[in-house]
Amino acid sequence: MTPDTLPGKRIILGVTGGIAAYKSALLVRELVKRGAEVRVVMTPSALEFITPLTLSTLSGNEVIVNTFPADQKNGVELKTWHIDYGMWADLMIIAPATVNTIAKITHGFADNALTTLVAALRKKLLLAPAADMDMYETEANLSNLKTLEQRGAYIVDAEEGFLASGLIGRGRMADIDKIVDSAELCLLESGKDLEGKKVLVTAGPTFEDIDPVRFIGNRSSGKMGFAIAKAAFLRGADVTLVSGPVSETAYPEIKLIKVRSAEQMLEAVAKNYPENDILVMSAAVADYAPETFSNKKIKKKDNLQNIRLKENSDILRSLQKIDGKFIAGFALETNNAEDNARKKLESKGIDMIILNSLEDAGAGFEHDSNKISIISKNHFKQFPLLSKFVTANNILTEIKNNL
Ligand code: CTP
Repeated sequence: MTPDTLPGKRIILGVTGGIAAYKSALLVRELVKRGAEVRVVMTPSALEFITPLTLSTLSGNEVIVNTFPADQKNGVELKTWHIDYGMWADLMIIAPATVNTIAKITHGFADNALTTLVAALRKKLLLAPAADMDMYETEANLSNLKTLEQRGAYIVDAEEGFLASGLIGRGRMADIDKIVDSAELCLLESGKDLEGKKVLVTAGPTFEDIDPVRFIGNRSSGKMGFAIAKAAFLRGADVTLVSGPVSETAYPEIKLIKVRSAEQMLEAVAKNYPENDILVMSAAVADYAPETFSNKKIKKKDNLQNIRLKENSDILRSLQKIDGKFIAGFALETNNAEDNARKKLESKGIDMIILNSLEDAGAGFEHDSNKISIISKNHFKQFPLLSKFVTANNILTEIKNNL
């Protein structure tokens, strides 16, 4: 079973009037799917792009558009919905956030339902801005975003890409998954605490080719490594991800280096390690590879059962340790787990080892959840079964506390 990552969390989604508002339906859906309770507030311009009916159907809640209740009698009925919502929410997301709304919030305007609610909000504000590239890049907009960030808002920067105007540039609202991952991060209260750090992560299996159709591989899906890379990026780090063959996708801003064999992974890690501050080796590197690769498919009668293997280099062991850099590795053990993990910490000369459980249902390969223990020289910490994204954040927090 995959544990819900936003169970019972109360999220207000503010929708403003930009073309990306059509994607807010998908955002509501994803938040609800991950277990959150969602209430929507729209600006009058947002109504030009998507209907309240769509968003109230998907959220299961009334959508607020008007600051003042429509049913007021003689203007005397008091309804402080904005104060109630401001106290109710664990988090407010504005997606898309237009240049206009960003400017209003920066300067404290409260001239529609959405901006009034922001003024009354008690918890964190997350903004996913979207605009055409020239509007997005104006000095006023960029400086407003910086001001909001300095005041504690979390900004999911717009991405480069194809815009509604036909231009190509920065201004596309971030992908739904990235916005929801950022929402989770805000609720975990991590923020962009890895800003200025360079993080190198490895993920997935390696495939050691026997001939053009066969290889030696393992069951690693890459989910854990990709979750670490994503979480590190959302926490402000500059991330390079070296991945074996997997079907996971990374955010466009993560530098992805695709490799196949252990030898290629070793080369990519050795090349990138010196310029990074943190290395997290979560890849399941094959320990052995065929001694020779056959260009032609080996016929089964041609001694296929006697393929000779050679040992691959141990990537972690082979790295020249550099002072000031932090190295974390993983250990997958099925017996004497803690002892074996501690031995690996010593023999590989690394700072931290993350012990992965294969024993618990829902943990380990191919699952969206994991159960880990974190071991360093004088420290042992055990975590329950959690989503791989939350697990990734726990690992990064432990690393950050040990830098
Ligand atoms: N690792 C590595 N190079 C290898 C094999 C593993 O750098 N050739 C790294 C993995 O990425 C992981 C750690 O070493 O971070 C432990 O990997 P694991 O497979 O558990 O251990 P092994 O050293 O392969 O030992 P064993 O298979 O005997 O448990």
